[in-house]
Amino acid sequence: MSSDYIPIDRPVPFLRAKRNWILSAFATFLVVCVYQASRLAHRPPAVHGPPLICDSVHTVEELPVHKIRKLLDDKALYNQTLAKLQNAVRVPTEIYDTAVNPEIDAQDKAWASFKILHQQLAKDFPAVWSQLDIEIVNHYGLIITWAGSNSTLKPVMLAAHQDVVPVERKTWNKWQHEPFSGDLTEDPEWGTLLWGRGSFDDKNQLIGILQAIEYMLTEEPEFKPERGIVVASGFDEEIGGHFGAAYIAPILEERYGKDGILSIIDEGVVGVKEIENVMIAAPGTGEKGRFDLWIHLNTPGGHSSVPPDHTSIGIAAKVISEIESEKFPALFTEQNPESQYYRCIAKNSDSISPRVKNDFARAMQSPGANSRVLKYLIDTGGKKTEYLFRSTHAFDLIQGGIKANALPETVSFFVDSRIAIESSVAEVSETLLAKIMKVAEKYDLGVTSEGKELRPATPNGNFKLEHSHPLEPAPVSPDNEVWSLFAGSIKTFYEDVIFPTAFAEPKELVVAPSIMTANTDTAHYWNLTRNIYRYQPGFAMEDTLSTIHSVDEHINFDTVMHVVAFMYGYIHAVNTAQI
Ligand SMILES: *[C@@H]1O[C@H](CO)[C@@H](O)[C@H](O)[C@H]1NC(C)=O
Ligand SMILES: *[C@@H]1O[C@H](CO)[C@@H](O)[C@H](O)[C@H]1NC(C)=O
Ligand SMILES: *[C@@H]1O[C@H](CO)[C@@H](O)[C@H](O)[C@H]1NC(C)=O
Repeated sequence: MSSDYIPIDRPVPFLRAKRNWILSAFATFLVVCVYQASRLAHRPPAVHGPPLICDSVHTVEELPVHKIRKLLDDKALYNQTLAKLQNAVRVPTEIYDTAVNPEIDAQDKAWASFKILHQQLAKDFPAVWSQLDIEIVNHYGLIITWAGSNSTLKPVMLAAHQDVVPVERKTWNKWQHEPFSGDLTEDPEWGTLLWGRGSFDDKNQLIGILQAIEYMLTEEPEFKPERGIVVASGFDEEIGGHFGAAYIAPILEERYGKDGILSIIDEGVVGVKEIENVMIAAPGTGEKGRFDLWIHLNTPGGHSSVPPDHTSIGIAAKVISEIESEKFPALFTEQNPESQYYRCIAKNSDSISPRVKNDFARAMQSPGANSRVLKYLIDTGGKKTEYLFRSTHAFDLIQGGIKANALPETVSFFVDSRIAIESSVAEVSETLLAKIMKVAEKYDLGVTSEGKELRPATPNGNFKLEHSHPLEPAPVSPDNEVWSLFAGSIKTFYEDVIFPTAFAEPKELVVAPSIMTANTDTAHYWNLTRNIYRYQPGFAMEDTLSTIHSVDEHINFDTVMHVVAFMYGYIHAVNTAQI
């Protein structure tokens, strides 16, 4: 995923959970008994609130549970998948912001490793490469098609990107294992770990998807899908997908029509977590928008022994301080899937106090409850929770001045804004512009935005504003039968396949929608379907998630096998489902 992903919540330590299960169950039972006894006399009335999306997610019959168990028991498959992910990680498909569209120069050395990755994939997935249709899009993008026998059924699409965030050369020797080593280690609690840039983001999902299909082609040669299967793989997701996904999208739209795809699964929110005693999976059904703005300020030069009261650097500081002095408001609305996520946790939790549970239940009806809930979430979850509910701005770049005794004639600075689900590019850009205009008026400066003059240039100088590729918040994927099958497949996969071996007792999984604060290649796929799910199966430790885009990226390999097994199951489920 582009830009740093911060895990929303504490993940569940599975093996330890298993070891301590009996003990903790007993302790919980005692605590619950004492607690119940003490409050029976004055229990506040429970409020249930309106029905939530998670209430109507049920296990589905379409998921082939026995076949999935067999896949997960296949030790040879496990070993092969491990080796294939190592191979993929060892190809350093780093992408820099400066990358030039291969349409202009496909032989640029920046793209050499992508060629090698394609050769490696062809070698490691021989059935996919020999039996399915492989299309190369804009030199390094891939569309792999397994045609369905019934063309009236919309195909399902699985997406993953080939590129990885560059490893900063200064940090190279901070890695415990070489960044592209694909080294393996054993962790007593988490099993085999695989190390290297891209091991989690996103070669895990790429190899997982391809292995699920390779397995079907080799182990189930009798299987002929009725519904088509499309794998789409971009190669510049980490810099916005403008060369990869942006070229793949129109080809698929032309081929299948607008809304011609049943559903898209792409990278996103990871796996299953345990929060307030609730096991929850939360596919991203929405994604914040983005607005990048360069602000250039030009002022007269001169010797700095005779300066004006404010140099361009000083005025830039005013603009930055003006913008930073006010946050965008945080909102807890029905429109934002994240409000479903937290209400689902509150409703199903036995550890959250009844008073707080009642507030969550009434949050959309009572303004008082709504603001208490928002405060509670931000107080307990901190910034990373707050960002799910409001727009943000971050000044990330500044350049200006050339000499110690010369007045700076130009200062350029850059602000990266992420747009809340309820807001828009227009609202965020107008807010920023209003602050810049205020400073321009105060210091009598001109303002030109995207070539349009908003205030004439003056002898004091001029602001020039430039933005690139603004992105509205993604349309939220609806709660419909396609969602029911997808969310139900996750529930079935964990409750019937994974939990029975991870826990001594059956456990229930709540599946609720959530959002991504960062963007994915799906930003280019909106026309293909309304049913976009940003989800990555698996269990991962918080330590692991914090290494994504950073030093020591690694993955606990069981997570990759969850991807293989889940994708395999979902392909079967959508194939037979009447949707
Ligand atoms: C898988 O790999 C492990 C470790 O290298 C090895 O001990 C085991 O025999 C392999 N299993 C199969 C079925 O190939
Ligand atoms: C194709 O699928 C549609 C929708 O489920 C169904 O009505 C039709 O009978 C199928 N056609 C064939 C040839 O199976
Ligand atoms: C989506 O479709 C609209 C027209 O319906 C078109 O203007 C737009 O460019 C398409 N978007 C993408 C990303 O292809």
